Amino acid sequence: MKNNDLDKQNEYYSKRASEYEQIYFRDNKERRQEIDDEVIRLKELATDKSIIELACGTGYWTTRVSETASDIIASDFSQEMIVEAKKKSYRCPIQFLQADLHNPPFEASSCDLLLLGFWLSHEPCQDYPTLFNTLKKLIKQNGKIWMIDNNPPAEGSKFESVGKDSFGNNYKKRFLDDETEYSILKNYFTDESLRKILEPYFEIELLIHKRYYWSVVLTAK
Ligand SMILES: C[S@@+](CC[C@H](N)C(=O)[O-])C[C@H]1O[C@@H](n2cnc3c(N)ncnc32)[C@H](O)[C@@H]1O
Repeated sequence: MKNNDLDKQNEYYSKRASEYEQIYFRDNKERRQEIDDEVIRLKELATDKSIIELACGTGYWTTRVSETASDIIASDFSQEMIVEAKKKSYRCPIQFLQADLHNPPFEASSCDLLLLGFWLSHEPCQDYPTLFNTLKKLIKQNGKIWMIDNNPPAEGSKFESVGKDSFGNNYKKRFLDDETEYSILKNYFTDESLRKILEPYFEIELLIHKRYYWSVVLTAK
């Protein structure tokens, strides 16, 4: 992604921090159920684990895993997101820090479980190899990586595509509540395309691909 696009994307998330969690509470039972089911699976996965979360946003997943985890370091590039996340309460020791997920300030083999929610769809596809190798380094031997992201039906009709770049990355229009418009890199994945992207780097322990969301649990290859 060009620096200018990256700056715009970061600006979008920082400005959206206070309204971001609306995505979790739209009035749609099936969609809500998929998230609730994922919370149950993730809390189980996180039990007694030492966790690093990248791009934690407002801490939606963070607060839930804190009910079972041993400890958490939650990071995000946006200070505004971290401010929102800090407003929540947490049930295990937690530390927040501002960090770029592409250059995380953690030692190798730092956690049992790495969380990366709603990010892969924003990562430029040409950068997957670098990102995946970065993620693999952070987990201990036998450590796991969890990711979740959305499928097109979770987007709503308002977010029309504004085309693709030369790498094949898709761009979509996004609006803040005040109607300010942004163009955001947003790729979508089928079960098959996810496997193809992930399998060179990871063992796929679990891949759930539902109508609104997909999630994976990975170990390093
Ligand atoms: C779609 S939100 C996901 C938030 C959270 N993980 C969740 O599942 O609710 C994407 C998040 O990535 C953060 N972000 C964007 N670029 C980043 C970067 N280079 N490093 C770390 N976080 C970044 C944004 O600030 C935002 O909080």
